[in-house]
Amino acid sequence: MQTVLITGGSGGIGAELARRLRAQGANVAIVARSVERLNAVADETGAHAFPADVLDAEAFADTVKRIETDVGEIDGFAHAVGSVFLRPLHATSLEDWRTTFETNATSAFIALKAVMPLMMRRRRGSVVLFSTVAASTGLPNHETIAAAKSAIEGLVRSASISYARYGIRVNAVAPALTRTPLSRSLWENEMTLKASVAMHPLGRIGEPGDIAAAAMYFLSDASAWTTGQILGVDGGLSAGSPPVTLKP
Ligand SMILES: NC(=O)c1ccc[n+]([C@@H]2O[C@H](COP(=O)([O-])OP(=O)(O)OC[C@H]3O[C@@H](n4cnc5c(N)ncnc54)[C@H](OP(=O)(O)O)[C@@H]3O)[C@@H](O)[C@H]2O)c1
Repeated sequence: MQTVLITGGSGGIGAELARRLRAQGANVAIVARSVERLNAVADETGAHAFPADVLDAEAFADTVKRIETDVGEIDGFAHAVGSVFLRPLHATSLEDWRTTFETNATSAFIALKAVMPLMMRRRRGSVVLFSTVAASTGLPNHETIAAAKSAIEGLVRSASISYARYGIRVNAVAPALTRTPLSRSLWENEMTLKASVAMHPLGRIGEPGDIAAAAMYFLSDASAWTTGQILGVDGGLSAGSPPVTLKP
């Protein structure tokens, strides 16, 4: 874990990952669009800020080249860019569907296209993507985001095999509801928070540190013999329903 690139490094999970990596002495480059939020995380953590839109493939490829020159050869890559979209399919516009796929699946494709050749040349690297519990567990109104994140899970499994011979590992973390700016509307509202807590067998929603800890594991040599895996970090939600307390 000498040099790690985090796309979405100013977000709830990305920033917490940057904090933890810096605390372990890694060089960290963070990418996001809003310069102000990116600089705030860079100032706090000592990470290097590179403002860019991952969906602009050419600009992102240039950014990755600058990171290699200014920060160091990228050994680890975490793509913490994504969205949450909750609406039943019949009430979802084609534009919403396309935007959700762009932000989640296409952004991962573009980012990996830029990073993989560098890791292939050096025959080492670890990649972490982010899915959602909804990709493997049927949750109402999650059709669009579940489909987009299922694309991520398919990408992870295939890429893990394609790039294993280059010494590159590819894994994903699949969180349930986690307290970040992305899901603020869900956890800030008392009623939806209560309903969410009740859904999770471990009796709480996730914190950014829960998810960042799993990403740290995949980025480190502790997972040296692990690739192609989707790790559910979801308070037990994907394992089954919490027990129902029946009143006499
Ligand atoms: N929080 C949850 O409940 C939850 C649940 C399941 C899965 N996840 C997944 O976990 C990952 C991290 O989520 P989070 O909760 O940390 O989200 P977040 O707080 O909203 O952070 C998202 C980050 O991505 C950046 N970003 C968005 N679009 C970008 C683009 N086109 N180019 C460059 N940067 C871009 C954002 O900064 P700018 O807007 O400034 O670009 C921000 O730094 C995502 O893949 C998300 O889908 C989260």
